[in-house]
Amino acid sequence: MNVTIFGSGYVGLVTGTCLAEMGNDVVCVDVDQRKIEMLERGEIPIYEPGLESMVHENTAAGRLRFTTDIADGVAHGLFQFIAVGTPPDEDGSADLQYVLAVARSVGEHMDDYKVIIDKSTVPVGTADRVREAVSETLTRRGAELEFDVVSNPEFLKEGAAIDDFMKPDRVIVGTDNPRTTELLRALYAPFNRNHDRLIAMDIRSAELTKYAANAMLATKISFMNELSNLADRLGADIEAVRNGIGSDPRIGYSFIYPGAGYGGSCFPKDVKALERTARDVGYEAELLSAVEAVNDRQKSVLFNKLHAHFGGALAGRTIALWGLAFKPNTDDMREAPARVLMESLWQAGARVRAFDPEAMEETHRIYGERDDLALVEGPEAALEGADALVVITEWHPFRSPDFALVKERLKQPVVFDGRNIYDPAYMAGQGFTYYAIGRPP
Ligand code: NAD
Ligand code: UGA
Repeated sequence: MNVTIFGSGYVGLVTGTCLAEMGNDVVCVDVDQRKIEMLERGEIPIYEPGLESMVHENTAAGRLRFTTDIADGVAHGLFQFIAVGTPPDEDGSADLQYVLAVARSVGEHMDDYKVIIDKSTVPVGTADRVREAVSETLTRRGAELEFDVVSNPEFLKEGAAIDDFMKPDRVIVGTDNPRTTELLRALYAPFNRNHDRLIAMDIRSAELTKYAANAMLATKISFMNELSNLADRLGADIEAVRNGIGSDPRIGYSFIYPGAGYGGSCFPKDVKALERTARDVGYEAELLSAVEAVNDRQKSVLFNKLHAHFGGALAGRTIALWGLAFKPNTDDMREAPARVLMESLWQAGARVRAFDPEAMEETHRIYGERDDLALVEGPEAALEGADALVVITEWHPFRSPDFALVKERLKQPVVFDGRNIYDPAYMAGQGFTYYAIGRPP
């Protein structure tokens, strides 16, 4: 089937590549010329495990190509996916300008029936606005053409995006027309394992399902972070508590890891956007406000622990930082807890020596050259002359370091573990002063 994807970011590129992998003929359109030129050269603008080889195979097979030519893109696909960004506006609501720009482009260039699919995360009611934008453009052209608008939110996680897309837990399809449900069912049929994964519903429920999923996951994390702060004050171990509650299948083990706060391009913005949607319809979503407030506070927990350890005397100190990306297996720094920590340390007059396996370039792009930030070649180099080590992203290579070397390189054997990846008793045995999240020393 012919598929066009607008937006070649995390979601668009993964969606396009995985649909091509299943034999579809896919064109990815982006307005960012630099990005398209990179993709045409076979370079992948983001770090996502497994993506590069899959892009290469599918472009070589002639099933996947990239363009900035919007008219070409619209002409190509029966399916027109909208996978552009929906960043937060100043008031927290999702900025729909890119989504509506694509809708107008489709209206401008289409000359036969199209299925327009919202894959971006968009507030309830957006499909109606997309429909209006397409209709208005068609009317202006004096064209009478049929089209349908579908809500098909995406649930992939960065770092595991290919696997998530190829083996989805579910494919949500919100339509008001059974014909489109069947078209989408055919497109997604190759992604069914064992049973039909497609869940069809009305459009508004599909739009809300996406926010509900992210808000629920963010709530689980903030709940555990709240409890970790309580555990800290009560002398309990949050990791024991986590095991204790996760064993109840009604609670489950996933997304109950306490840490330095959730980051990334989605949880923070989607919780805010849902809060905003609630307010727009006269409802104060108190739980969502609390989830957000707890997360904001959690991003300062490591700094507060450092501050307390050094008796407030952080000026002139050097802190080694392992991890910069908002989570492992990505180079994405959007809303990363490491940013809040570094900025607080700089404000307090401390210097940072940091290493991340993938996010060094992105960190440099964001902060540029500065005297109080050294982006170093490897985890050991970060320790050189540092007063303490902070681990903020749980990349595999940080999980089992040579602790003798860590101790030797640090000026003082102090470790702050923002992801609870080390064992407190072992760390004490190795002679470290060890701080974790919600665990007694
Ligand atoms: P992104 O910023 O990585 O990519 C968006 C791309 O859209 C950019 O390359 C941009 O140049 C392009 N674009 C903007 N306007 C365009 C236009 N008019 N025509 C063509 N291209 C255009 O964004 P992303 O992370 O892929 O997220 C896209 C959407 O998917 C968001 O709504 C996000 O909330 C949602 N989402 C993201 C993830 C994730 O893990 N990143 C997961 C699920 C859902
Ligand atoms: C998240 C969702 O998991 C995806 O299903 C969704 O499609 C996506 O948002 C989106 O809408 O964009 P992502 O942001 O890539 O995916 O990453 P997650 O693995 O969910 O992690 C988000 C943040 O939560 C990270 O900072 C991570 O460190 C933190 N986290 C996660 C915890 O602190 N504890 C946990 O137990 C799990």
